[in-house]
Amino acid sequence: MTEPRVLSVVSEIYPLIKTGGLADVAGALPGALRAEGVDMRTLVPGYPAVMAALDHAEPIQTFRNLFGGPARLLSAKAGDLNLLVLDAPHLYARPGNPYIGPDGLDWPDNALRFGALAKTGAEIGKGMLPQFVPHVVHAHDWQTALIPAYLRFGPKGQRMPGTVITIHNLAFQGRFPADLLNALELPPKSFVFDGVEHYGLIGFLKAGLQLSDRITTVSPTYAAEIQRDETGMGFDGLLRARSWRLTGILNGLNTNVWSPADDPHIALNYDIDTLSARAANKAALQEALGLDLRPDAMIAGMITRLSDQKGLDMLLEVLPLLFQENMQIVLLGSGDPDLEAKLRAAADSLPGRIGVHIGYSETLAHRIQAGSDVILVPSRFEPCGLTQLCALRYGALPVVARVGGLADSIIDANDMAMAAGVATGFQFSPVNSDAFAWALSKAATLFHDQAVWRTMQTNGMKSDLSWRIPAKRYAALYRELILARKAEGVAA
Ligand code: ADP
Ligand code: GLC
Repeated sequence: MTEPRVLSVVSEIYPLIKTGGLADVAGALPGALRAEGVDMRTLVPGYPAVMAALDHAEPIQTFRNLFGGPARLLSAKAGDLNLLVLDAPHLYARPGNPYIGPDGLDWPDNALRFGALAKTGAEIGKGMLPQFVPHVVHAHDWQTALIPAYLRFGPKGQRMPGTVITIHNLAFQGRFPADLLNALELPPKSFVFDGVEHYGLIGFLKAGLQLSDRITTVSPTYAAEIQRDETGMGFDGLLRARSWRLTGILNGLNTNVWSPADDPHIALNYDIDTLSARAANKAALQEALGLDLRPDAMIAGMITRLSDQKGLDMLLEVLPLLFQENMQIVLLGSGDPDLEAKLRAAADSLPGRIGVHIGYSETLAHRIQAGSDVILVPSRFEPCGLTQLCALRYGALPVVARVGGLADSIIDANDMAMAAGVATGFQFSPVNSDAFAWALSKAATLFHDQAVWRTMQTNGMKSDLSWRIPAKRYAALYRELILARKAEGVAA
């Protein structure tokens, strides 16, 4: 078969613009797929941060009026990334967070901002750019989920690429008032149950899940969870009905960016043979966050968006443990102002024991991974989760809720795993503060057994956490889809 050409369409991409793991995945996948013979280009919005990061940018298409203003499509490189950048100043020339304005609220025109991105992705899929005509268009999350709707409900007789959508988080569904249908340039016939209609609104994610040829999500356990009533966030019925098209592929980690042996952010580099150098990183972290300089304390680190998903209420509930166990907590996060205030108050009430940094900092994220003894991920749900993968690579033991990708990526220190010498961390279930406290106490006890601890650290550090295996799965999926479409006689 010829080399699959895939257009990935996404609303954030590392290292250009990032609010969470979606950007990490979008940034790492194309490079990993190259090794599998897949030519992936990525269509992204021309936010200021993106425009500023482009190495070469060549205009290849202009639009006189794209959803309310002129726009251009640039073919561009940024480092290793082959990008198509939608430069539409009326939609994207706004600094800061890609989704939220300075008032903390969603930009009021988000439907049009991301509708325009999806429409452009669909047009490229139909063959708008002779220099890159993709076999498959791959959407990610609600922001780009209208792509198959633009393909399905567009003019007949045009080229049709295969479509894939990846669910990174089912909680964000992109629902907008029905009267935007016209502005989104979707025809009235698309506003049906088998189309974009979702409980009387326009459902971006609904459309993607309903109309894509294949659906993936970022771990096998999350793929199962979202088909269950309690955890399907209203989509379990739809996903059960389309379950043969749905697979879970666990994310990899960008092991070039996350590499303690040559990480430029940390106090002292180390690898599996020089783990004792972690002590210097621990001391540096304690100093940076104003913690007591105690080498014997177990530092529990957490790096997270501050949202309900991430279980911060449970973290606040287990704080009394700090007195029973010789523990310190370091937290880096931003998001919900209410959670920010509560965490700041907790840090003020326990000086020397809790260090909280509200904000976004790549450097501090790396320092926390290198200096913490355990990394906490007490999420209520977690499609994949990346900070526990970073932790494995940095020799910090993850303490995680047994949900989604956390269940799939950590080998719990249960009796059998300990007997076999294969454990890499600690899982807890049910997801409540009692079970979380129990797992933390178990970690604190084991922390004193340095031989066992060292074995667990090296188990994680030895694991292949890279994109090598996931990239093979995505490549196989694209090839299978291309063949299936040929067999059905719908190949482009
Ligand atoms: P999610 O995508 O749900 O936020 P993930 O664990 O998949 O969760 O990915 C989060 C990514 O964002 C990780 O790379 C993590 O290091 C990073 N991150 C989250 N919050 C911050 C922060 N405040 N500062 C720096 N990096 C952060
Ligand atoms: C989402 C999920 C997270 C996942 C990331 C990348 O933000 O919340 O679990 O790791 O996407 O797929």
